[in-house]
Amino acid sequence: MPSNPLAPLWLAVPNDANELPSAVWSRGARRAASGEVEIAGVAVSAIVAEFGTPVYVVDQSDAVSRASEIRHAFDRELARVGSSAKVYYAGKAFLCTEVARWVTGEGLNIDVSSGGELAVALAGGVDPARLGLHGNNKSPAEIDRAVRVGVGAIVIDSAVEIERVAEAAVRHDRVQAVRLRINSGVHASTHEYLATAREDQKFGIPLADAPALVARIRSHRSLRFLGLHSHIGSQIFESEGFAESAKRLFALHAELLKDGPVPELNLGGGFGIAYSSADEPMPIAELAARFADIVAEGAAQHGVPVPIIAVEPGRSIIGPSTATVYTVGTIKDVIVDGVAVRKYVSVDGGMSDNIRPSLYGADYSARIVSRTSQASPTLVRIAGKHCESGDILVHADYLPGDVAAGDLLAIPATGAYGWAMASNYNYLARPPVVAVLDGVARLIIRGETEEDLLSRDVGLRDFAGHGFAQREKK
Ligand code: LLP
Repeated sequence: MPSNPLAPLWLAVPNDANELPSAVWSRGARRAASGEVEIAGVAVSAIVAEFGTPVYVVDQSDAVSRASEIRHAFDRELARVGSSAKVYYAGKAFLCTEVARWVTGEGLNIDVSSGGELAVALAGGVDPARLGLHGNNKSPAEIDRAVRVGVGAIVIDSAVEIERVAEAAVRHDRVQAVRLRINSGVHASTHEYLATAREDQKFGIPLADAPALVARIRSHRSLRFLGLHSHIGSQIFESEGFAESAKRLFALHAELLKDGPVPELNLGGGFGIAYSSADEPMPIAELAARFADIVAEGAAQHGVPVPIIAVEPGRSIIGPSTATVYTVGTIKDVIVDGVAVRKYVSVDGGMSDNIRPSLYGADYSARIVSRTSQASPTLVRIAGKHCESGDILVHADYLPGDVAAGDLLAIPATGAYGWAMASNYNYLARPPVVAVLDGVARLIIRGETEEDLLSRDVGLRDFAGHGFAQREKK
C-alpha cells in the first residue's frame, strides 16, 4: 500500500490496521476472537452499553503495575549507589481518590500542585506526610492548609514564599520541611534539549540566588531544609537533560552541605511515553539506572554522599493505562489541494476531553475497537464535535477504509492530562472514568449530566425543586 502524501513522514502504513501496538495500548488490551477489543477482560462494547461514549477506560492493573515498577526500579538503583529513593506520583496528570489509593498502595508519595489536588488526596485518605505541595503562586490559604494538615514537603518556588511558609508553620506550631525549586537553565523536550544560561519561564529561582535563600530558610526555626528541586520538562526520552541538570544542581548541593544538612535532591518528573508507534521511550529500569549513575557520579565528583533522590513521574504511571472510547458519527472525504484525500472521521467528544492535540500539536493514534476489518488502510484524521476547526484528536493515522458511523473508536494513551485538562467547552458534559480489572468494569468518576452543567447557573430560577429532566418532560 503506498502511503498517502498527506501523511506525516513518521507514520508508516500498517500491515494490519486492526493491530494494537503494545507500546501504545495498555497491558490488558487485546482483540477477542470476535474481533472486538477487550481491556482487562471486559469487552469495550459492554463498557459502552453501560456507560455510553465518550468514556475514559482505565486499565487498573496497568497503572498499578507501572507505579510499582517505577518505585521498585528507583529503590533498587539508588540502593545500588548507597542511597534510597522517594517516588512521588504527579497528581496533576490525573488524580481522583481511587487513583490516590492505587499509587499510595504501591508505596508512592503524591505531589499535588494546588489546594484542589490537595483536597482530593486528603479525601482519598492519603497520609499528609506523604504529600508534596508545588505551585509557583500558592495562595496564603493553600500554604496555611498544607502546613496545618501536615504536608510532608512544600516546594518553595519564590523568595517570598519562605516567610509565608515559615509564618504558617509558626502559626500551627510545626516545623515544615521544604525544598527549594531551582531553575537550572536546562529545558529538555522529546527530541532535543537545550541548555541556556537562564530559562525565560516562571518556575523556580536562579541557581545563583539559591545560597542566600537557603540561608534564609535555615534561619527560620519553623522550617527544615530538605534539599533542591528541579523539573526540566515533560515527555522526555533521553537522560542527557537530567544529567545536565543534576550536574548543575550538585555543585550547589555540595556547597550548601558546608553549612548544614541537605538530605535530599528532587529531580522532578517528565519521563516520556509512547503516544504513537513512532515514540520509543526508554524503559523505566534503564532510566532509573541512568539516574542512579548520574547522581553517583555527581556525588563522587564533589566528594559528598549520594542524597536521597526524589522523582515525580505522572504521565509515565497513568498515561498508558487509559483509552478513550468514542462513537463514530460523520465521515467526510476531503480533497486536499486537489491531490489527495483526507478522510475526516468525527466522533462524539473532542478537545473538551483531550485538549493535547489542539494545545500542543500532540500526536495520538486510533483503532476501531468494535470489530476488525480487512478493508485496506486509509489515512484518517479524527476530529471532535466542537465548533472549532482545530478540534482534532488524532492528526493522522491509518484505519480500515470502511470505517463507518456507529463504529466504536478508541484512542490509547490518554490517561495523563486528558481528563485532568478536560473542559465543558460547547457545554459538552465531561465523560465518566471507568476502571477495568479482572473482567469487571467499575465507575470511578461519574460522567457529568445536563443537570450538572446547569447546576451553577444562578439564573435558572426554578431549577431547585423541579429537577431539570422532569421539567423537560412536561
Ligand atoms: N513535577 C513537576 C514539578 C511538574 O511540573 C510536572 C509536570 C511533573 C512533575 C510531572 O510531569 P510528567 O511526569 O507527568 O511529565 N499538560 C502537559 C504537561 C504539563 C506538565 C506540567 N508539569 C501535557 O499534557 O503534556
